[in-house]
Amino acid sequence: MTGISRTAQTMPYTVSKLTDFSSTALDAAVRELRSALDRESKDIRSETDWKVFRDRWMARKNGILTQINDSWLKASPKDSRREVGQRVNWIRAQVEDRVQKVESLLLELATGKPLGDFVDVTLPGIRRAIGAEHPVIKTMNDMIGVFRNLGYSVGEGPEIETDFYNFEALNFPPNHPARDTQDTLFIAGQDAKPLRDRLLLRTHTSPVQIRTMQKMKPPVRVVCPGKVHRNDALDATHSPIFHQIEGLAVDTNITFCDLKGTLDHAMKAMFGSSVKTRFYPSFFPFTEPSADVQISCIFCDGKGVRDGAPCRNCKASGWIELLGCGMVDPNVYGFVDYDASRVSGFAFGMGVERIAILKYGVDDIQLFFSGDVRFLEQFS
Ligand code: PHE
Repeated sequence: MTGISRTAQTMPYTVSKLTDFSSTALDAAVRELRSALDRESKDIRSETDWKVFRDRWMARKNGILTQINDSWLKASPKDSRREVGQRVNWIRAQVEDRVQKVESLLLELATGKPLGDFVDVTLPGIRRAIGAEHPVIKTMNDMIGVFRNLGYSVGEGPEIETDFYNFEALNFPPNHPARDTQDTLFIAGQDAKPLRDRLLLRTHTSPVQIRTMQKMKPPVRVVCPGKVHRNDALDATHSPIFHQIEGLAVDTNITFCDLKGTLDHAMKAMFGSSVKTRFYPSFFPFTEPSADVQISCIFCDGKGVRDGAPCRNCKASGWIELLGCGMVDPNVYGFVDYDASRVSGFAFGMGVERIAILKYGVDDIQLFFSGDVRFLEQFS
């Protein structure tokens, strides 16, 4: 002994002569050899390295495999020979396999790139779930599909809007409460700008109506899906971020009947042909007249009673309020250079999460935004 401790890390592996042929001793020798194989295959960076590695382990003359054949198998006592032979065969297979794998890895990797930890390419791969359409996006796409079939195209607009598009051109008076920071999220540091240029996060998809009409002359039929923002606190039915789908049809001779027929069809297409709609007077600055649309409760079939108890989903009324709509206010046409005496049209807007909540029986809007795969995979 030299007195310098021989550690596996610093000294290259050498085949030890075996004197003890017990299973324990054989296993220890095999383990030592196997970890040397792992260690050495990790250091291979080039084809030259690989050739040295291959020859060191497999050369007929004095390769490690030949050495263990000579100094383990041939030197073993007769009654251990079977056990030793099995282990030598196993090692041979391991070495041949490793030499071959390293070669194919080298072919795969760009030359010069370090191999890092040895990758066992024969292990099964990591299967990644394909994923599914998010229920909000799915609902949005379903609704878009209904309107595409009616000849509508799809329009989009920015989420950061100016006061002009979000409010002014939609006929909101200067002191309308929606313009308050209580309701709307404004971009900071805008006070020096004229009101109409100040930036905010759009509170509805209606600004895309204005952008569409600025871009094209009637006839217009467009649906505008997208994300909207409001200064609301989170709870089971409110989220500061949600999605809407806006619809706009402008042409000559469009009437409230067209609006009713279109939305009645869309609700039946989404919720089933037995669903009824009803239009309730309402108010929006950009439509006149305006209405809220209710559908007959899909949980109690409009009866207000389910399983002998008042229906909780419609508060026993038999109706569920779903969207806002109306005939485009002539003042709006003034902002987009349409001739209000020649054209007419309707607009509607609906919350996508609200529809998804009803359609899928979800009890908390937050689930849509939590990213919890256990929730989401139910929609795959
Ligand atoms: N923009 C309205 C809202 O967000 C919905 C709406 C759209 C109403 C179009 C009428 C016409 O509440």
